[in-house]
Amino acid sequence: MLASKRILLIISGGIAAYKSLELIRLLKKQGADVTPVLTRAAQEFVTPLSVSALAGEKVYTDLFDLTDEAEMGHIQLSRVADLVVVAPATADLMAKMAQGRADDLASTLLLATDTPVMIAPAMNVRMWDHPATRRNLEVLKADSVSIVGPNEGDMACGEYGPGRMSEPSEILDAIATELTDGPLKGKHVLVTSGPTHEPIDPVRYIANRSSGAQGTAIARALVALGADVTFVTGPADVDPPTGVTLVQVETAEDMLKAVQTALPADAAIFAAAVADWRVASATGRKIKKQNGKLPVLEFAENPDILASVSRMTNGRPGLVVGFAAETDDVIANATAKRVRKQCDWIVANDVSPETGIMGGSENAVTLITPDGAEDWPRLSKTETAKRLADRVAEALA
Ligand code: C5P
Repeated sequence: MLASKRILLIISGGIAAYKSLELIRLLKKQGADVTPVLTRAAQEFVTPLSVSALAGEKVYTDLFDLTDEAEMGHIQLSRVADLVVVAPATADLMAKMAQGRADDLASTLLLATDTPVMIAPAMNVRMWDHPATRRNLEVLKADSVSIVGPNEGDMACGEYGPGRMSEPSEILDAIATELTDGPLKGKHVLVTSGPTHEPIDPVRYIANRSSGAQGTAIARALVALGADVTFVTGPADVDPPTGVTLVQVETAEDMLKAVQTALPADAAIFAAAVADWRVASATGRKIKKQNGKLPVLEFAENPDILASVSRMTNGRPGLVVGFAAETDDVIANATAKRVRKQCDWIVANDVSPETGIMGGSENAVTLITPDGAEDWPRLSKTETAKRLADRVAEALA
């Protein structure tokens, strides 16, 4: 996947530096060449010997190393890569990058480079949330630095929250996406996926049987074609894809807000099984049994996310794709749905229990476009997703 791609990997000084050893191993496995650079602080966490042994390359550490300068000057070192990756990127190194400081080898390379830069921040949650780091992050984004993570979770310092460096496999996926010259490179595609959960009370909810498998496969296929994917998902059974901007939601109303925030997009694919109704009488307290008296739930209609995006007059994605999971008159219902919701395409399928499609690994769909209905054979959800991603790429070309 990354054969002969050259990565300049800058490791700065945080506890997450140990994960960068695994990142080097994964990059090498994909055929990439890795030139490692360690800051002084990084050497307190990982040794140049272990980094160099895994990379199979010399490790660079000093700005004023005359031997290194004679072999390959720091300017040249900053230019030979296809991508400069900073993992972990500490709050301090991010601050230096944002200010354009160059007082050691790592920061000097980052200022001198003319190749794209990606950072995987890692720091304590309060440092990540600090206004200074937020400011620096905005500056770096504006400078076209791509950001991977951080993730939320337990931290080495004993606290919990965002600030954990992304896992090496996630960073690898982001690197692969960045270096993939697929037909969807530079295109932003929004995908909704999974079911929604509509609360009845704090412990009960209404859900549906969507596993999120098809939406997840679609997002993966789009990433593989180089798309920049925002993946808005309800509580799904399957793990979310990597290499996407992940937004996790519970309810239809949350999903609508997340979709609106994620726009603009070149294309939007609505694979989520959104609940049509929410419980209008949802309470903040658990409903108690009342001696045989049954609770009565009142429903309210949820916003139709697909229809609202399809009907946008300003900033509508160029291609809007909906799904129609039906049990009867699949084609007729789906064709009518395309017109009613004003989307461009509908992916229709028969989800009657005997098909095993809902929650299964295969799908048999009909693609409905303004030109008519096209039956696709029964394929794995991965293959169905690849076909759809190819069609999206053709449409956006
Ligand atoms: O009307 P129906 O639920 O069958 O429509 C299915 C399509 O509409 C899917 O693409 C689904 O993601 C989308 N949808 C939506 N918001 C809703 C209901 C459905 O985006 N509230």
